[in-house]
Amino acid sequence: MKKPDYMILVCNSYRVAGDAQGYCNKQGATSFLQLISEGCSDRDLDAVVTTTACLSVCSQGPVMVIQPNNYWYGGVNEDKLEEILDALKEGSAVEEYLIA
Ligand code: FES
Repeated sequence: MKKPDYMILVCNSYRVAGDAQGYCNKQGATSFLQLISEGCSDRDLDAVVTTTACLSVCSQGPVMVIQPNNYWYGGVNEDKLEEILDALKEGSAVEEYLIA
């Protein structure tokens, strides 16, 4: 099995034994999944995109994390996603959006 170059984790606020209802989910993070997948495909980035439970930085949401780079982005929206994926293609981060 070939491992992907990147794993992109999008907080969707899932709770144990409950529905997603936290900050990131309410800010529309679910809709980012398709955008990120398409954005990666458009840029020929080898990435798996998946969702997570709350990443415990709700006040900076919506949050996404790119591994193995360990880039933590906050306040993600559609415009920022484009910039973030452009930077990833160049092997870098958009420093101003990093939260950690
Ligand atoms: S709900 Fe996304 S970080 Fe907590």
